[in-house]
Amino acid sequence: MSTTSEWPLELVVADIVPLTAEITSLILKAADGGPLPAFSGGAHIKFQVELADGASHPGTLPDTLKKAPAPGERCYSLVNSADQSDYYEIAVKLETAGAGGSRFMHALRTGEHIRAALPKNDFPLHDEPHEAVLIAGGIGITPILSMAKELSAKGAAYRLHYASRSPETMAYRTGVSQLCGEQASLYFDYGDPTQGMPLADVIGQPVPNRHLYVCGPRPLIDAVIAIARAQQWPPGHVHFELFGAPLPQTGDRPCRVVLQRSGVTLDVPAEKSILDAMIDAGLDPMFDCRRGECSVCAVRVLSGTPEHRDYALSDDDRDQAHLMCVCVSRAREGELVLDA
Ligand code: FES
Repeated sequence: MSTTSEWPLELVVADIVPLTAEITSLILKAADGGPLPAFSGGAHIKFQVELADGASHPGTLPDTLKKAPAPGERCYSLVNSADQSDYYEIAVKLETAGAGGSRFMHALRTGEHIRAALPKNDFPLHDEPHEAVLIAGGIGITPILSMAKELSAKGAAYRLHYASRSPETMAYRTGVSQLCGEQASLYFDYGDPTQGMPLADVIGQPVPNRHLYVCGPRPLIDAVIAIARAQQWPPGHVHFELFGAPLPQTGDRPCRVVLQRSGVTLDVPAEKSILDAMIDAGLDPMFDCRRGECSVCAVRVLSGTPEHRDYALSDDDRDQAHLMCVCVSRAREGELVLDA
């Protein structure tokens, strides 16, 4: 059962601003009218949501389609400047095929209350003075814009590169241009990925005091990481944030996982992670991000061939220490035996 200590913030929707046909900004204030906990550029907040249409917002669906709401949680990056302590701004893209989190957020109305956790930052700016290259794709602009505001306020050197399908689908287009001026470059591919952001030029060769920050869809993040690696960027200078849990990939198959120390054998369905199968089996594995970014869930592979899908482990971690991140990685074929 969730508790108010898990969700210490009670927020009220103070304003709702449509940004594009699919993306809406929500301005949230403390329900008691007081100041809100501080945050830094790149931070996000986890909200308590209900994952079924209709029940919490009567009238949005016919009765025949309404289901009992299921509790859930969704994280959204904070867009506003960290020194604006009396409100939080988030932007939510409506995912009509999703599980319902974005539909719940889009159904909120001015004056409604929502509970939230304290701000958390898994995607902070490097704490030493440096030059930043900010790269955003689509709704990935949200933490990037908050970072740009922080860098602008400090007078720090940065460039912001922001891609979307078209000017009409680009949230905060005017705000980015006003804030960043000539430090921002906007790209529109009109549905043709070959016409998008010229990533190799944008990333360029590593420069000692320059850091890359990228947020957006997984293909953009994968491409930036691949190019940065190929150009020999130090891994500690490349920062990224994936939105949402990794989706099952086409061709994923069930796999059998033997947890040697626990004496448990799991048959993991194609649509479930090994981590979730361990939790469902009553085990208590360590984990944090669930997106392959932190390596907290890494376990040693005793036999079998993993298909690595994380962003956290080095080649040595994988090949010499034989680690795999069970929140995202699977068996390439056959059975895995893990030291867990
Ligand atoms: S929980 Fe973070 S990499 Fe698996």
